Amino acid sequence: MNRKIITTSDGSKTIQIEELNEQYHSIHGAVQEAKHVFIKNGLNLFRDQEISILEIGFGTGLNALITLMCSKSSNLKVNYTGIEAYPVSKNELDQLNYITCLKAEDLAEEFSKMHESRWESNIVLTEEFILTKRQQNFLNIEDVNAFDLIYFDAFGARVQPELWTEILFEKMYRAMKTKAVLVTYSAKGSVRRAMRAVGFSVEKLPGPPGKREMLRATKLA
Ligand SMILES: C[S@@+](CC[C@H](N)C(=O)[O-])C[C@H]1O[C@@H](n2cnc3c(N)ncnc32)[C@H](O)[C@@H]1O
Repeated sequence: MNRKIITTSDGSKTIQIEELNEQYHSIHGAVQEAKHVFIKNGLNLFRDQEISILEIGFGTGLNALITLMCSKSSNLKVNYTGIEAYPVSKNELDQLNYITCLKAEDLAEEFSKMHESRWESNIVLTEEFILTKRQQNFLNIEDVNAFDLIYFDAFGARVQPELWTEILFEKMYRAMKTKAVLVTYSAKGSVRRAMRAVGFSVEKLPGPPGKREMLRATKLA
């Protein structure tokens, strides 16, 4: 499908799939959304520890970059696994402006490495951050009791309803450790019900700019 680069309301770029009218991030601000949903309501629950994160939809690497930026200040050692079936191209990456938007010039080299490094390998990006990219369909994830935090950042249920059902949430639940947390930008009632049905405790939280609510699901036992 055709992908093109567009600019969102906070000045940061994202990728749009034209045929589906679907974006990799909110058109109300890609960086603002990532910081609010995944960092403020997810990563910031953790500090002074080692943590394993699973990202559903590695895409542009924006969430991984912001997590890398936060790892030092929160004194975290991060093992970051990004799953992606359709990697972005070098040409697309060259058109994104996350390093400038985040004033992360000191991490430009690490951000390039995130994308250039091999799939299915553990890449030590900094003392605090190890990245493993897996080129895999989400529906084939079979990890068990492995992650403290999941960034659930699949395309919306409007375009990929099969990814917001009990089948995938059951896999997420199994992949998580006890007390682990999953955060997502979606707040749909059907998503909430599917999460509850597989055993999650689910909270509705205020959403990022342009969106009233988002969800945080916790595996209590
Ligand atoms: C909303 S975007 C992710 C945005 C990403 N987190 C970022 O910050 O750029 C959803 C991602 O899921 C990927 N994807 C879609 N269907 C998939 C599937 N069944 N298995 C694995 N990846 C898939 C897409 O290629 C896309 O990169």
